[in-house]
Amino acid sequence: MGKVIGIAGSARKEGNSATLMRMILKGAFQAGADTKEVYLNGLVFKGCQGCERCTSNGNCILNDDLTPILDELKKAEGWVLASPIYYDSITGQMKTFFDRCRTFTKDPKTQKLKPQLNGKRKGIVIVTYEDTPREDYYHEAEKLANYLGWMGDFGKVKIISEGNLGSKDAAAKKSDLLARAEKLGEDIFS
Ligand SMILES: Cc1cc2nc3c(=O)[nH]c(=O)nc-3n(C[C@H](O)[C@H](O)[C@H](O)COP(=O)(O)O)c2cc1C
Repeated sequence: MGKVIGIAGSARKEGNSATLMRMILKGAFQAGADTKEVYLNGLVFKGCQGCERCTSNGNCILNDDLTPILDELKKAEGWVLASPIYYDSITGQMKTFFDRCRTFTKDPKTQKLKPQLNGKRKGIVIVTYEDTPREDYYHEAEKLANYLGWMGDFGKVKIISEGNLGSKDAAAKKSDLLARAEKLGEDIFS
């Protein structure tokens, strides 16, 4: 496995979703991958403008802090997306980032939907939340996982959907959960 990039959608760098993301990256690193952490909240970027010009030249017309990250994601063999659940959905930061990935979904020549990321890659989507385990929150992660398939050949994207994580340090206190995330990273990105 080459490069694995973790995208954190929470403003809480030491919070639950980012902690699990880092454990997955730790596992990936142990398996020999080169890893990178991206904290969306520290970047300045706009939402998709819906201009669809990414479909004619393969690039987004916007040029902001997300531009180099999208470039790196094109080459990365592993994507790890981590978001808390806010009002039954992913955070605004993660949604805004994900909309910008439109550029990876359409063939610039035919304007038809066709994954633009070359080669095989692997993906993991993490969602954390305060409530007791909920299927609809698993589904929020599954939605992102499915749309990754519009962008490239991610195979079966793994999902971590973890409830009972209200306080910022809740995940950090669960050694079994941390170990599970680390093992998943090691297994998937080996
Ligand atoms: C604005 C906001 C909305 C939230 N909405 C929900 C929700 O709808 N359901 C839920 O179970 N938890 C909700 N939570 C709790 C977070 O999902 C939970 O604390 C999560 O683990 C935070 O992840 P983080 O530590 O990575 O930021 C919300 C928290 C905030 C700040």
